[in-house]
Amino acid sequence: MSKQRVLSGMRPSGKLHLGNLVGALENWKKLQEDYDCFFFAADWHALTTEYNSTESIQESIREMTTDWLSVGLSPEKCVLFVQSRIKEHAELHLLLSMITPLAWLERVPTYKEQQQEITNRDLSTYGFLGYPLLQTADIIIYKAHKVPVGIDQVPHVELSREITRRFNFLYAPVFPHPEPMLTEVPKVLGIDGRKMSKSYDNAIYISDPPQEIRQKVAQMFTDPNRIKRGDPGNPDICNVFAFHRVYSSPEAVEQVRVDCRRGAIGCVEDKKNLAENIVAYLTPIHEQRSRYLQNPCLVDEVLEDGCQRARLVASRTMEEVRAAMKIT
Ligand code: TRP
Repeated sequence: MSKQRVLSGMRPSGKLHLGNLVGALENWKKLQEDYDCFFFAADWHALTTEYNSTESIQESIREMTTDWLSVGLSPEKCVLFVQSRIKEHAELHLLLSMITPLAWLERVPTYKEQQQEITNRDLSTYGFLGYPLLQTADIIIYKAHKVPVGIDQVPHVELSREITRRFNFLYAPVFPHPEPMLTEVPKVLGIDGRKMSKSYDNAIYISDPPQEIRQKVAQMFTDPNRIKRGDPGNPDICNVFAFHRVYSSPEAVEQVRVDCRRGAIGCVEDKKNLAENIVAYLTPIHEQRSRYLQNPCLVDEVLEDGCQRARLVASRTMEEVRAAMKIT
């Protein structure tokens, strides 16, 4: 039996942080064992908001791919590529735009939300409205069955199902219906207790050297009600504890839970232990990383090869699409 196809994309934001690792990459790493996986850098999607500062996007792709490879995404197990190098995505996006009612795009929740949130640039553009339609093209051009995404992206995958249904009905049954794949992931926050994000300056990066990780962990917020060392703490509301669950052994996690609750371990000591566990976890990743940094051509080769494999699939699909629409 052939494997089901999984596809996901990430906007190139440069070096990746532990939030990306816990939230997406760890999951991608598992999926590559059981599915036919396609993962790509969504650089055209980055343009929808960054159209006025495009100079760093290419370098960000390289940094992000270096991190992908360092954490263990394997070019032997999955296809790693760059969206803008597969022009077929643009052709399909254009063709789909002909059959997409405007109202379908206008009602996508991220559209209005982001327009309100991002106030430092004008997002009343055609490209921004079409963001989820481009995402639809990304997904269906590879005939993906499963799309691992965060909860905020589910409406986009749902839109792609609706478009798929419409295309298959109007022309010919070319596309399978893609499904969002939601996986339980541990929730870890930035060192200031907000969502971990580059723009909040609160992230621990995969590439941070050990000393920096120790410093950042030392700054992390803990249970705010715990003032003195002997006070009993509540691990369930503590971000440091959330990190322990990811990076410390099950026995250590249990020990921290008990010791924190009865005030037997102080937050300073607790954070020192956590920092060492994160450092240990990242050590082999850093080894891989320096290998890729010394040979940047390796990264280029992986992407070049991935793009070729992706292009082959995408161009076959486009032949079917053109035939179905009678524009051969
Ligand atoms: N929009 C996604 C995000 O911001 C990135 C993305 C682009 C994507 N195309 C995709 C994700 C296709 C899954 C499938 O995270």
